[in-house]
Amino acid sequence: MEKIAVATTGGDAPGMNCAIRAVVRTSLYYGMKIFGIRRGFRGLYEDDIFEMNSRDVSGIINEVGTILKSMRFSEFTDKKIREVAFQNLKKRGIEGLIVIGGDGSAKGAYSIFSDFNFPVVLIPASIDNDLYGTDYTVGFDTAVNTAVEAIDRIRDTATSHERIFIIEVMGREKGNLAVEIALACGAEIVLIPEKKIDWDEVFDELENQVKRGKVSSLIILAEGAGKAPEVAKILQKKFPEREIRFSILGYIQRGGKPTYFTRTLATKFGFEAVKMLKDGNYGYMVGFKNEEIVHIPLKEVVSGKKLPSFENLKLIKIMSI
Ligand code: F6P
Repeated sequence: MEKIAVATTGGDAPGMNCAIRAVVRTSLYYGMKIFGIRRGFRGLYEDDIFEMNSRDVSGIINEVGTILKSMRFSEFTDKKIREVAFQNLKKRGIEGLIVIGGDGSAKGAYSIFSDFNFPVVLIPASIDNDLYGTDYTVGFDTAVNTAVEAIDRIRDTATSHERIFIIEVMGREKGNLAVEIALACGAEIVLIPEKKIDWDEVFDELENQVKRGKVSSLIILAEGAGKAPEVAKILQKKFPEREIRFSILGYIQRGGKPTYFTRTLATKFGFEAVKMLKDGNYGYMVGFKNEEIVHIPLKEVVSGKKLPSFENLKLIKIMSI
């Protein structure tokens, strides 16, 4: 394989730049030409493709976001659009594609692979850590750390004022991020999209906490499980004597300098993805399972479900006694 291309697609994640850097430099190391695609699948469709060199990725290891830009491009579900994208790769003689992104990107990557039998490898990068087949996605660790730092500060004021605090974190469809944040910041309750909120259970839990002498409580709410102002309203109605407040962390979770773990993971993934294309191993996502780099067929990635850790959910409960 002599020419490959790389794109970042979907919601950005800290460490995407580290992955781009690793892909570019590994390709050059193996004597391949490497092309960057701007703005993900949209740029692929619009033929916004350029050749990259080693200096294009200088100094980006600690830079936030993605130098290639990223966007959601729902039109890519249309095969006619994908056909144009495929032709854009073909006319340049590009023989392989590395997609860096989350679950939507996995679907896009899989469809290029299955429609045209085109060599594709996915590098999982999403703060949601919701891709089947890998223990970690690029950016997740950084997002958890960012959220924990912010919530530690909220805990300070929650304790001073003896308040119940609801903190809404990202996770439109999955609660993986919320569960990890809740465990790391010692939250009393976590509410996730995978489980419909059982209000009686939440009320009982908060009442029991008071009986156990807890004067303040942190509730981590994944955005897909409910909206913080509404949850606050329901709780205030039930506990009119308590002071209830909420905070929505929002997009700060997607920014910030990548942590050591995010950087090394992205670098290892980038290196492996290029090697896979070079060795003819395509139609896979590169992943990290039980401390090892693994290859998971894209077909399994797009059909599999990654559930939040039930072990961690149990720990959150036990730690809040
Ligand atoms: O990156 C994934 C994610 O953070 C989800 O948790 C969130 O709902 C979504 O992106 C929102 O992203 P955007 O508004 O950029 O589409």
